[in-house]
Amino acid sequence: MSDDIIQLHPVAGHPPSALTDAQLLALYAPASRAERHVRANFVSSIDGSATASGLSGALGGPADKRVFDLLRQLSDVVLVGAGTVRSEGYGAMRLAPDAADWRSRNGLPEHPVFAIVSGRLDLDPSSDVFAKAPVRPLVLTVSSAPADKRAAPADKRAALAEVADVVDCGASTVEVGPLLAALEARGLLQVHCEGGPSLLGSLIAADALDALCLTTSPALEGGDGPRIVHAGEPVPLRAMTLDHLLLSGSMLLSQYSRAR
Ligand SMILES: NC(=O)c1ccc[n+]([C@@H]2O[C@H](COP(=O)([O-])OP(=O)(O)OC[C@H]3O[C@@H](n4cnc5c(N)ncnc54)[C@H](OP(=O)(O)O)[C@@H]3O)[C@@H](O)[C@H]2O)c1
Repeated sequence: MSDDIIQLHPVAGHPPSALTDAQLLALYAPASRAERHVRANFVSSIDGSATASGLSGALGGPADKRVFDLLRQLSDVVLVGAGTVRSEGYGAMRLAPDAADWRSRNGLPEHPVFAIVSGRLDLDPSSDVFAKAPVRPLVLTVSSAPADKRAAPADKRAALAEVADVVDCGASTVEVGPLLAALEARGLLQVHCEGGPSLLGSLIAADALDALCLTTSPALEGGDGPRIVHAGEPVPLRAMTLDHLLLSGSMLLSQYSRAR
């Protein structure tokens, strides 16, 4: 192993020019859309917190948001845990018109599918996530998900089934193998996970994560905020290789891929 160190910033000589959206799309494009690729995108403070005041938003910034949107643009399906949908106040998975146009020009549906992972099905079928969805969302759940007696005339599962495809991916927990198989059966191979930490933990535990995009926010959280991964058991170290490292002001944007 080499102990070489290279200077990324400040760059000696001519500074690199700012990347265009087209260049960023090329940088983040999957090697093959015909092969399954599971990628997650997270932001962390320098001291390792995935949240500031309980949310990830304050850690981001314009460059992080730009990459966040471009990663959606490249995906077949945006996969999000119910905890993140609830806490971050997700709306419908609708891309901006220029991103939808780009997808059409590139032979993709205008919008990716929104897939939500939930065991308890504590999701509001009348929320914008479902009511304003440009594409029928997926709810990936467990066969033991409880019926909600308060929902009338149907139970919660049935109510959700009216606005989304509800798919069982395990008995008491959503298992990653059946989850990815359910997506693949629908032709959804470019899987983009926006969190949260519990879902990322499941993906890592199953060794299903191919790439992790990580924005390091130039800030200290200082408290005991959560890491980007929250899961049960530690796994054998999963080696990753650095694909690229971008800089925007003092914010670092990296992508690491799983060394297979
Ligand atoms: N820094 C970042 O980039 C980033 C990104 C995303 C989120 N966050 C933060 O993370 C926090 C939320 O953390 P979280 O761990 O609760 O998020 P999460 O992983 O999105 O949500 C956890 C919930 O998702 C469902 N779920 C996930 N994996 C499951 C599995 N294998 N089987 C069954 N259900 C599963 C369950 O939903 P039910 O409860 O419905 O059963 C579970 O309670 C928020 O503060 C959010 O702001 C940070």
